[in-house]
Amino acid sequence: MKFFIDTANLAQIKEAHDLGILDGVTTNPSLMAKEGIRGQEAIMAHYKAICELVDGDISAEVISTDFEGMVEEGKKLAAIHPNIVVKVPMIKEGVKALKWFSDNNIKTNCTLIFSAGQAILAAKAGATYVSPFLGRLDDIGYDGVQLIEQIAQIYAIQGFDTQILAASIRSSIHIVKCAEAGAHVCTCPLEPILGLLKHPLTDSGLKKFLEDAAQTK
Ligand code: E4P
Repeated sequence: MKFFIDTANLAQIKEAHDLGILDGVTTNPSLMAKEGIRGQEAIMAHYKAICELVDGDISAEVISTDFEGMVEEGKKLAAIHPNIVVKVPMIKEGVKALKWFSDNNIKTNCTLIFSAGQAILAAKAGATYVSPFLGRLDDIGYDGVQLIEQIAQIYAIQGFDTQILAASIRSSIHIVKCAEAGAHVCTCPLEPILGLLKHPLTDSGLKKFLEDAAQTK
C-alpha cells in the first residue's frame, strides 16, 4: 500500500518525506486555504514547490464544476509537473472530464466518493485513483472501511485498473484497516502516520535494552 500525505503544509510534507516512506501528496481547496495560499499564481507556485519536495503523485483539485472549466483548469495544473494528478469531483460533469483526461493521458483522482456506485462510474470513466472518504462516512454513522472493502471486491471482480486511494483518514487504526481492506493507497495527515510508530512495549523494551547496554560498557 502506498502512503500519501493529505496536507498542503510544506513542513509536514518534508517531515513525512524525510521518514522515507512517502509516495505522494493529496491536497484540496480547504487544505490550500488553511495554509493561506491565495490567488492563482500562488496556488500554482505552491503545487510546484510540493512537486519539488516529493517525487510521487501530487493531487491538485479543480474548482470548476462544468466540463469545459474542469478541462481548462486540469490542463494548466497538469502542465505544472508530470507528477500532477488532476483531482475531479464525483459529479456528472466530473465524470465527463475524467474520461477526457483519461483519453488525453492526464492522471486523475476522483474525489468525494461515498458509494460503490460512484466508484464504478469513476473507474468506467478511466480515473487513475478514486478517493472514498471513509472518515466522513464514519462521522455520520456509516462504516467507511466497509466501503473500501466493497470497492476493492468490485474492482478485483471487474478487473478495473483504477486504484483505491483511501481518504479522510482520522486515525492510525484506519490506516491498518485500509491495508486489510485492500486499499492501494492511503492518504492522511502526518499524525496518524506517526501514530503507527507508537507502542508502549517498544518504549519500555528499548529503555531496558539501553539500561542493560550501559552495564556492558
Ligand atoms: C482527500 O483527498 C481529502 O483531501 C481528504 O482526505 C479529506 O479529509 P477530511 O475529511 O479530513 O477533510
